[in-house]
Order: sequence, then structure tokens, then C-alpha cells
Amino acid sequence: MRDILSEVVGKWSLIPQKRNRNGAFPGIFKYIPHSRLFCSKSRINTSWPSSLTLTLLFLKDILHWKSLAMASPEPLQSPEGQTRLVRHFEGRSIDDHSAAWSNLWDTDNSDMWDRGKPSPALIDALEQNQDTFNPITADGRRKRALVPGCGKGYDVVMLALHGFDAYGLDVSSKGVSVAEEYAGKELQSPQPYNFGAEGTARERGNVSFIEGDFFKSKWEDGRKFDLIYDYTFLCALHPTNRREWASRMADLLLPGGLLICLEFPLFKDLSLPGPPWPLKGVYWNLLVEGGDGLVTKDRVISDSVDGSFVRNLYIKPETSYENGKGTDMLSVYAKK
Ligand SMILES: C[S@@+](CC[C@H](N)C(=O)[O-])C[C@H]1O[C@@H](n2cnc3c(N)ncnc32)[C@H](O)[C@@H]1O
Repeated sequence: MRDILSEVVGKWSLIPQKRNRNGAFPGIFKYIPHSRLFCSKSRINTSWPSSLTLTLLFLKDILHWKSLAMASPEPLQSPEGQTRLVRHFEGRSIDDHSAAWSNLWDTDNSDMWDRGKPSPALIDALEQNQDTFNPITADGRRKRALVPGCGKGYDVVMLALHGFDAYGLDVSSKGVSVAEEYAGKELQSPQPYNFGAEGTARERGNVSFIEGDFFKSKWEDGRKFDLIYDYTFLCALHPTNRREWASRMADLLLPGGLLICLEFPLFKDLSLPGPPWPLKGVYWNLLVEGGDGLVTKDRVISDSVDGSFVRNLYIKPETSYENGKGTDMLSVYAKK
């Protein structure tokens, strides 16, 4: 609550005392989402509201922020956070990108992407399609699930709680130790956010975190996986790595293995830089068409099915992270 208050009051205290030359108040409220009533983009053009109105709006904002904070622990990321990320990678050699990610971890900047909880869309998919995502094979083996670029490991722990032997891979040693610490606590006493409406108690699988570069083969030690989950990993990589991302995914999966993607960001214009790199049309091109993933807005969808995957499921999840702006799609690709 104190954070919410300081968010609102902090901006509030910047209200200018004077109108500008056009008789408008410069845009002080532009970062306060529910103060739109008397805002027009970056300036306040209407007559100055009474102090009673301001008090009511102030309370409305507090209630709004409070309800968001109570509904989910997911931090609301600012567009400014994304710009910081783009700036961090701007002009760097592609060979330096892994080190640049590690640097963000080492300097405590993981808030730029951390969503604070496992993926609600993945949880629903697992729980609503229990035959497809049965964590035990027909011959009684526990399935292995991999989350590359796992960050703090929310989805790795959640997959283990749903019965998989779950592996998280990250190139950053600090990232891996943060994930190990999170898993240690979370497995002792899992929070309700790990389960959806149809979550049932299952025998849980093991959790392992590995420090390694996805594109280098040493870390997997000959292991193949039944399931891989990608969220904000492909969009973290430079576009020239995309074709290799697709071939690594195919190599790492067992025959018939499933690649689940929570496709993000689909709302971002394809000409804009990342990370996160815009991905509308990219997964299909890479995985089904067998293209290079360097998709532009003028692309023509081809009939080609030269990729290593077929798409079995493509749905708009009922619930997903706020950051997807309602455009995230959940797709399941099966290795041919
Ligand atoms: C945008 S973050 C997403 C983290 C996580 N998926 C989440 O949702 O919180 C991308 C992650 O990928 C990791 N990463 C980047 N390049 C990698 C590589 N080549 N191999 C393994 N991990 C990598 C970064 O260290 C970072 O933790």
C-alpha cells in the first residue's frame, strides 16, 4: 500500500502551479492510468477540477492500484523499463549478448523482465489438457521439461509441481543462483499462483537449474526433453539467432516432443528494435514454414511446411500477463 501511495503521491506532488502559454497544465498526470478523466495525452485541457473532484480521483487511483496489486503479484512494467533494455543492447556485437544478459543479472536489473509469478496461460494449458500434458509416459517414465532462458525459475518450479522433472537453463550464473534460492523456498511451501482452477495435487518432479548457453551443446549432457517452454526467450535473442533457435529446439526434443510458446510480444511493430524483439508471425515462419524468422510487416504467408514442427494448438489464453496487452497467443508445436 505504501508503494501504491508513493506512486500516486509522488506524481501528484509534481502538479505545476501555473498554466502554460496555451492555458493548459503541462502533462503531469500522464503516468497515472486512471486520471484520464481530465487528461488529454500529455496535457490537461479542461478546466481545473475542484479539490473535491481531485480528492475523489485521487482515492479512485489508490483503489485501482490497490486492486491491481492485490489481484496479482505481477509487477507492472513501465515502457521506460523496456527502453532501458533496448538501450542496454544497442550497438553491441551479437557475440557479446550473453555477457550483456549476465551483466543485467549482476547489476540487479532483472526487474526489466521479471513477471513475479509463473505463467497463468501455461498453467491453464497444462491443467485443461491433461492427456496431452500428462507428465508420465506410457511406459511409466517421468517426462523431462526444459525452460531455456528461465530467469528466476517460476515456470520451472510450476512444471515440477505439475509432475514434470523440470530443468531451467540460464546463461547467467547469478540468474541460476537466484532461481535456486527461489525454488528452495517455493517447493517448501508452494504459493497458490502455481495452480489454476483445475489444479490437482500430483506427485511432484525434480527441479534442476543449469548454467549454460542454449546455443552450445555441453550443458545438456546428452539429455533430450519431452517438453520445452519458451516465454520471453526467443524475443530476448537477436533476430539473426532465430534460425539456430529453431534448429536447437528440434535437436533438444525427443521425437513427438512438444514445444509450447507463449508468443510475446505480438503487439509490437515489427520494425522496432528489441529486446524484446517483436515476434508477430515469427514462430510460424521458423517452426512450420522453415524460414529464417526475419519477418517484416509486408511478408507473404507461404504454403511451405519445410519446418521441423507442426502446430497442434493455437489459442488466445483466457488469462495471461498484463504485459502482453491482451495479444499473447499460446501455441503448441509438435516435433515431426
Ligand atoms: C527476458 S529474460 C526472460 C526470463 C524468463 N523467461 C522470465 O520470464 O522471467 C531472458 C533470459 O534469457 C537468458 N539468456 C539470454 N541468452 C541466453 C542464452 N544464450 N542461453 C541461455 N540463457 C540465455 C537471460 O539471462 C535471461 O534470464
